[in-house]
Amino acid sequence: MGQYFTNQKLNSNIVKHKVIIGTVPLSFNTDNGVFSKTKIDFGTRFLLETLTSLNLKGHILDVGCGYGVIGIYVSKVFPTTVDMIDVNKSALHLAKLNAKENHVKCNIFESNAYENVSEKYDYIITNPPIRAGKKVIYEILMNASNYLLDHGVLYLVIRKNHGAKSIIYDLEKLYDVTILDKHNGFFIIEAKKR
Ligand SMILES: C[S@@+](CC[C@H](N)C(=O)[O-])C[C@H]1O[C@@H](n2cnc3c(N)ncnc32)[C@H](O)[C@@H]1O
Repeated sequence: MGQYFTNQKLNSNIVKHKVIIGTVPLSFNTDNGVFSKTKIDFGTRFLLETLTSLNLKGHILDVGCGYGVIGIYVSKVFPTTVDMIDVNKSALHLAKLNAKENHVKCNIFESNAYENVSEKYDYIITNPPIRAGKKVIYEILMNASNYLLDHGVLYLVIRKNHGAKSIIYDLEKLYDVTILDKHNGFFIIEAKKR
């Protein structure tokens, strides 16, 4: 069984979903072999609804963008320039299509964690790829510090039963960590670069 991030060849079956996040109507094309293809993931939606009350501006990186929900939503609601990265080619193809259909300009490119990232950001936002394993998750979360500007902040969603407590404990070694909200076992975490 291939994982959604392995680029395994699957028959394509692109489906368009009309959604509303907060008050923003958006449309997303999804396909076989990408994360949460039937509906916006609960954790992603909770993360975005939590971030909506903040005043994000500047340069943002969406790590593990999938078909583009996080990057496209933040482009719509905040005065930002957004870069989006993923390892899954189908996800990147959909993210580009979805950015166009939702009339936002984002810079979308392939990168295994930060391998092809050369800039620094005001914010890094991620719903991390739990199924990719601890090594990849820690690379994305801990190495984010090196891709944030001095005042930069990492935002993420993580589930209690996916090791939230120990991830928070480890994030605290590098960042000033605040739990912005909790619901149904999901934690929204703000990690300010120290
Ligand atoms: C939990 S999904 C989140 C997708 C999307 N941001 C959303 O919220 O719907 C995690 C994403 O990380 C991607 N991913 C897995 N390993 C990665 C890696 N090493 N570097 C970058 N992205 C990765 C997966 O392909 C997947 O699209």
